[in-house]
Amino acid sequence: MAQMVTLIPGDGIGPDLTDSVREVIGALGTDIEWEVAEAGETVMDERGTPLPEDVLESIRRNKVALKGPLTTPVGTGFRSVNVALRKELDLYANVRPNISLPGLDLNYRDIDLIIYRENTEDLYAGVEHMVGRHAAESIKIITREGTERICRLAFERSKELGRKHITVVHKANIMKYTDGLFRDVFYEVAKDYENDFEEIDDRIVDNMSMQLVMKPDLYDVMVCPNLYGDILSDLCAGLTGGLGVAPGANLGDGLAVFEPVHGSAPKYAGQNRANPLATLLSAKNMLAYLGYDEDADRMQAGIEAALKNPETRTKDLGGSAGTREFTQAIIKNL
Ligand code: NAI
Repeated sequence: MAQMVTLIPGDGIGPDLTDSVREVIGALGTDIEWEVAEAGETVMDERGTPLPEDVLESIRRNKVALKGPLTTPVGTGFRSVNVALRKELDLYANVRPNISLPGLDLNYRDIDLIIYRENTEDLYAGVEHMVGRHAAESIKIITREGTERICRLAFERSKELGRKHITVVHKANIMKYTDGLFRDVFYEVAKDYENDFEEIDDRIVDNMSMQLVMKPDLYDVMVCPNLYGDILSDLCAGLTGGLGVAPGANLGDGLAVFEPVHGSAPKYAGQNRANPLATLLSAKNMLAYLGYDEDADRMQAGIEAALKNPETRTKDLGGSAGTREFTQAIIKNL
């Protein structure tokens, strides 16, 4: 029986990107059936909400989704459709692999870093208020339960992938209670994995930022509270070619939503201009997650071959190809 996957084309360039994925996976012949579920600005007027309940139901039923970027409409009460989706489905882990690809003009070769970012707590919990007219407060929430589950997921998946070094990133020297708890729980969970890793350590976030820029090869897997994870994952995306090449995934217990890191870039919508690479790499990671390892490897090889030729790269990567030409070049190289 075909594997059902919820497909959210999304807004702006989203449909250009997910069309590219459908073509490539169609050419691979992977036994996937897409259940298209529309969300975002596209459905706001018609459905009265950017996140209709049937989209959530489709993901709950199929357990896996590929999502194009969603524009957050202004003034709907949603802080962000993406944040709402992650909250509704309790997708507590944001996973950002950053691996350098051939053919790109990068400052470093051989970058291979994965960030596990806690996705529900920290200063992103949205507990903020004014204190009178001239001050504001935001509450940083870190719980033992929230920290334990992201740490355990990071250790488990890193062990499966044969990773050998895992680092928790924090600022516990200043935020002794919140970041102190995050670091302590990480080391408690680590006791169950001592024999699986060569190095289990911690870094203060400012030092980590400097070290990632100067010596990224010293690191392997990082586990971060929400805010530091957000910032460091874009820093790592910068090491490997920018947002256009950065894939991501949001994982919960038994649920996974794969998506590119970048947004809906409305100015390029429908113009054959968008780079589908980040969405294709997210889809490739989805294939591996679903156990289609061979197809994932073929897709990676097709992408790398298309990137080696400057003519088949998209404009943001110094080439002259459009979304469709790049997609066809990958298909030719599968
Ligand atoms: P953006 O990522 O859409 O664009 C930033 C810059 O990168 C722009 O110059 C854009 O043209 C370029 N860019 C992004 N992706 C590209 C691609 N695949 N190919 C070529 N160029 C690309 O960020 P921005 O402008 O801040 O946000 C636009 C909308 O996207 C907003 O409504 C925002 O809320 C939403 N957004 C959605 C995300 C998601 O669905 N996960 C993530 C980030 C933003």
